[in-house]
Amino acid sequence: FSLKKYNTFGVDSTAKEFIEFDNEEELLDYFRNNFPEKHLILGGGSNLLFTGDFDGTVIHYNKKGIEVISENDYEVLIRASAGESWDALVEFSVHNRWYGIENLSLIPGTVGAAPIQNIGAYGVELKDCLTEVEGLNLSDMQKEILPADKCNFEYRSSIFKEKLKNKFLISAIVIKLSKSKKLNLDYRALKEYFHGKNIDDIDIEDVRNGVIAIRKSKLPDPSELGNAGSFFKNPAVNINRLDSLQSLYKDIPYHKIDEKTYKIPAAWLIEKSGMKGKRMGNVGVHKSQALVIVNYGNASGKEILEFAEMVRRAVYENFGIELEYEVNII
Ligand code: FAD
Ligand code: EPU
Repeated sequence: FSLKKYNTFGVDSTAKEFIEFDNEEELLDYFRNNFPEKHLILGGGSNLLFTGDFDGTVIHYNKKGIEVISENDYEVLIRASAGESWDALVEFSVHNRWYGIENLSLIPGTVGAAPIQNIGAYGVELKDCLTEVEGLNLSDMQKEILPADKCNFEYRSSIFKEKLKNKFLISAIVIKLSKSKKLNLDYRALKEYFHGKNIDDIDIEDVRNGVIAIRKSKLPDPSELGNAGSFFKNPAVNINRLDSLQSLYKDIPYHKIDEKTYKIPAAWLIEKSGMKGKRMGNVGVHKSQALVIVNYGNASGKEILEFAEMVRRAVYENFGIELEYEVNII
C-alpha cells in the first residue's frame, strides 16, 4: 500500500497493510479480534518521516465530528473526533468567537494527533485549553478517558510520545474555550504584525488571519513542497551557555523558560551554521525558515534523514548544542 499521499514529506514508502476506520465500533471490533504484530497509528502524516517501507499495519482512524458538550455564559466545552482536521476545529471556534486556539490556526494534521506533541504556535499550546483525551488503550483494549493533568504535557511532548507511545489510540479530545475576549498577542511575530494597532480594534478573526499570513510568509505549503514543519525542537540551554553565546553573538534570540533555562531558536542556530537554503540533491533547508527541511522532488526518507543528520552535525560543530528531532522518525 503506497503511503506517498499519506505523508506531507511526499515520501514514496509502502505499508504491508493499511486499515481505515470511520467509527469506534469498527475500530473496537477489529482490535478485539486481531491485533497486528507491528502497527503505526497515522493521522495526516504531517509530523513523521518514513525512512523505509513499513513492515506492519498502518491504522488510520478517520472519524470526524465537532460537538458542543456544555456551555455557560463564560465558557464552552467542545468535543472533537480524532479524524477531524485540526484547522477545521480552529475555524469553527473562531467563527463562534470562542477564544483559546486562534493562535494555533493553520497547523496541519488531525485533532487526534494534536495532543501527541502538544501542538504549539505563537505563544499558545494545546495544553492551555485541553481538558480530556479519549481513546483506546491498546494494551488492554479498554476505552479510557485521560484528564489533561495525567498527560504529562510539555513543550512538544506528552505521555503519548513516552510511556504510551503507539499504545493509546486517541479517538477524541475535549477542549475548553472562553466566551469573553482574551487575546494572546505576546509572540514577537504577532506583535510586529499588529504593530501600531489598538488592541481593542483587534478581534479573534484578525488574530486568525494574522497567524495565517505570518505562517504563509515563511512556512512552505506541503502540497507544493514536501515537508513536516519544524524538523527539530528548539533546544533549551542553561544561563551560562546563553551568556557565552551572547558574548559572541549580541543579536542571539532567546526565550526565557525560568531563571536558569532559556530556549534558543534552532532555526537561528541552523542559519548561523551556514545551512539556511542549503540544498543537496532532492533535499534542502527551506530558504525562509531554517527549521524546515524540504523534499524538492523524489527524495527518499533515508536521504532526508541523512541530510537532517548533516544539519544536526553542523549545529553541533558550531555551537556544541545537540538538536533533537521534532518529527517522528519511522
Ligand atoms: P501524524 O503525522 O499522522 O502523526 C504524528 C504522530 O502522532 C505519530 O507518532 C502518530 O503515530 C501519532 N498519532 C497520530 N494520530 C494519532 C491518534 N489518533 N492516536 C494516537 N496517536 C496518533 N506542529 C506544531 O506543534 N506547531 C506548528 O506550528 C506546526 N506547524 C507545521 C507546519 C507545517 C507546514 C507542517 C507540515 C507541520 C507542522 N506541525 C506543527 C507539525 C504537525 O502539523 C503536527 O504535529 C500535527 O499535530 C500532526 O498531525 P497529523 O495528524 O498529521 O499526525
Ligand atoms: N529564525 C532565524 N532563522 C530562520 C527562522 C527563524 O534566525 O530561518 C529566528 C528568528 O530570530 C525568529 C526566531 O528564530 O525570531 C523564531 O522564529 P519563528 O517565530 O519562525 O519560530 P520557530 O522557533 O522557528 C516555532 C515552532 C513552530 C511554530 C513557531 C511559531 C518549534 C520547533 N517550532 O518555530 O512550529 O509555528 O514557533 O510559534 O518549536 C512545527 O512544530 O512544525 C512548527 C512549525
